[in-house]
Amino acid sequence: MCGIVAYIGQQEAYPILIKGLRRLEYRGYDSAGVAMMNGKLNVYKKKGKVDELVNFAENQDKTGTIGIAHTRWATHGEPNDKNAHPHAAEGEKLTIVHNGIIENYEVLKKALLKQGHIFKSDTDTEVLAHLIGEIKEREQLPIEEAVRLALNKVIGAYAIVVLDSDEPDKLVAARKSSPLVLGIGENEFFLASDASPIVEYTKKVVYINDEEIVVATKDGNFNLRNLRNEETEPRFHYLDMQIEMLEKEGYDYFMLKEIFQQPRSVADCMRGRLNAEKNWILLNDVENNLEKFLHANRIIFIGCGTSWHAGLVAEYLFEDIARIPVEVEYASEFRYRNPVIREGDIVIPISQSGETADTLAAIELAKQKGAFVYGVVNVVGSSIARTAHAGSYIHAGPEIGVASTKAFTGQLTLLTMMALYLGHRKGTISNDHYHRLLVEFSKIPDKIRQVLDYDKEIQAIAQQVRNAQNALYLGRGYNFPVALEGALKLKEISYIHAEGYPAAEMKHGPIALIDALMPVIVIATNKSAYEKIVSNIQEVKARRGVVIAIVTEGDQQIRRMADFVIEIPEVEEIFAPLISAVPLQLLAYHIAVMRGCNVDQLVI
Ligand code: M6R
Repeated sequence: MCGIVAYIGQQEAYPILIKGLRRLEYRGYDSAGVAMMNGKLNVYKKKGKVDELVNFAENQDKTGTIGIAHTRWATHGEPNDKNAHPHAAEGEKLTIVHNGIIENYEVLKKALLKQGHIFKSDTDTEVLAHLIGEIKEREQLPIEEAVRLALNKVIGAYAIVVLDSDEPDKLVAARKSSPLVLGIGENEFFLASDASPIVEYTKKVVYINDEEIVVATKDGNFNLRNLRNEETEPRFHYLDMQIEMLEKEGYDYFMLKEIFQQPRSVADCMRGRLNAEKNWILLNDVENNLEKFLHANRIIFIGCGTSWHAGLVAEYLFEDIARIPVEVEYASEFRYRNPVIREGDIVIPISQSGETADTLAAIELAKQKGAFVYGVVNVVGSSIARTAHAGSYIHAGPEIGVASTKAFTGQLTLLTMMALYLGHRKGTISNDHYHRLLVEFSKIPDKIRQVLDYDKEIQAIAQQVRNAQNALYLGRGYNFPVALEGALKLKEISYIHAEGYPAAEMKHGPIALIDALMPVIVIATNKSAYEKIVSNIQEVKARRGVVIAIVTEGDQQIRRMADFVIEIPEVEEIFAPLISAVPLQLLAYHIAVMRGCNVDQLVI
C-alpha cells in the first residue's frame, strides 16, 4: 500500500512532506522519496524507512515551496533506491509519484524504448513518467494536457502527482481506482492518498473522482477536468477528524489504542440510530430504500479479509433474524466470475478503507448487472462510499493499525442494526423479542469494556504460547467467522501460521495436525451447541493440544478441561461475535509484541 503527499503554496514544502510521509507510515512501505522545486528540481529517495530518507537528505538542498513525496510498497521491481519514487523523465525535468499499477506498462515501455527512451528503474511508474514527457515534448503541450493524453493510453489503476520544472508553479494530479484527496488551504494546496497528512493544515477537501485531473497553482487556484477534457465541478467536503485521532495517545501501538477504543466506537456507531428504551432503530438510507430491502430476493455481501468475515457474520444475522437469503463472496472472486445477479438482489460491499480495489471492481460489476448496491464503509468520502447507490458509515474513526479491529466490531454493529431493523419491519421477529434484543444490544459497549479488563490475563496466556509455529482457531455458528478472524489477526501481525475452522470440521482433516505444540483456540460461548463444543475440546485434549477456551463467565465444565480460559460476559448468541472477537485481538496483539513484531505495519 503506497502513500502520496504533495504540497504547493507559500510554506517550505519539505517539512510538510516528511511529516505527511510519517502519517502514512502506518501502512508499511519499503522505500520513500521526495522531490522539491526551487529553481531546479532536487530529488532524494532511499530504500527503507522515512528516517533513512531524512538522514540521506540531511545536508542536501531541500528548499522550495512545491514538492511531491511517496512511500512505496513494491509491486514492479524490488525495493531499492532506484525503484523508489519519485521517478523522473525528460532529462530529469519532470518527476512523478504514483500509487497503483499500470497494467499495460510493458507495451508502452517497448514503444518508448524504440523511441530512444532510457529507463533507470524496473517500475511501471517510470514508464508513465516517460510517456508523459514524450507527449509533452513531441506535441509541445502544457504539462496537464500531456498528462491527460498519456492517461488516455494507460490501462490500470493510478493516483499520480506530477511536478514539471518547465512549469514550476503548478502541480498536476489525477486518479483512477486509487484514492487521492485535495486539501484546500489559504493560497496553498495539499494532495495525499488519504486525509491523514492534510488534516492538521485544513479541513476543506475535495475527493478527486476517477479519471479526473486536478491542476493546482501557486497563486491559489485549482481546476478539475476529466480525461475527455471537460471541466468538472468540485464537491467540497469538510473533514470530521481531529489530529489526536491520528496520534497514539499514550498507547504503545495504534492497534492497542484501537482495540481499547471499541466500547466507544461501537457506541458511536449506535449513536442516534438505536434507542432501546423507545424501541427503535433508524438507519436513514435503509429507511429510504425500505421497499427494496423488504422485497429483496437475496443479499450478497462482498468484501476482503476482515470485512469478508463481517459479511459471514451478517449471513447468520440476516438469515436468522430477517429471513433474507444471503450469499457472501470474496470481492476478488466475484469480480472475475460471471455472477448471476437477478432483479431484487442487493449487493452490500463491506470495507473499512472504502478503497479496496477488488471491492470497488466488484461493485462496478454488480452495478452493471443491475444490482442495488448498499455500502457499509468506515472512511467518510471514500471511493466505495461514493460509488454505492446508498449506504451507512460505521463511524469507527480512523483505523491506523494495519490489523482491522474496531472496524470489524463497527461493521458487526452496523450489520446487526440492519438485520434487527429489517426483521422487525418484515415481522420475522416479534415486537417483544425485538425490544429484548435492543435492550441487550445497547449493553454491548459495556460488555466490551468488561472484556478489556481481562487484558492482563490474556497477556499472561500470550506469554505461554508466543513461541508456537502454528495455531488453530475453532468456532461454531456465529462464532465460526470469529475463528477465521482470530486466525487472520494472529498470522497478519505475528507471522505465526494460523487457520480458522468450523469446530465440527476439525475431525475432517485438521485434527491430524494437533499435538502438544499446537495451541487450539476454541470459542466456546455458544449455548445452542455447547455439548458439541465440549466434545471438540475433548478431541483436542485427546491429542494433547493446548486448549485456550473463550467461555462465558462462570463456565466450570470447560475450565476443568482447557489449559487456559478467557471468560467473557454472557450475551445473546447473535451478539457473540461483537464480544468474542475482542480477546482474540488482544491475544494476537500480545503474542506479536512478545515476538518483537511491529504490529501496526506490514512487514518490510
Ligand atoms: O479496507 P477494507 O476493509 O476493504 O480492507 C480489506 C482487507 O484488506 C482488510 O480487512 C485486511 O484483511 C485487514 N488488514 C485484516 O486485519
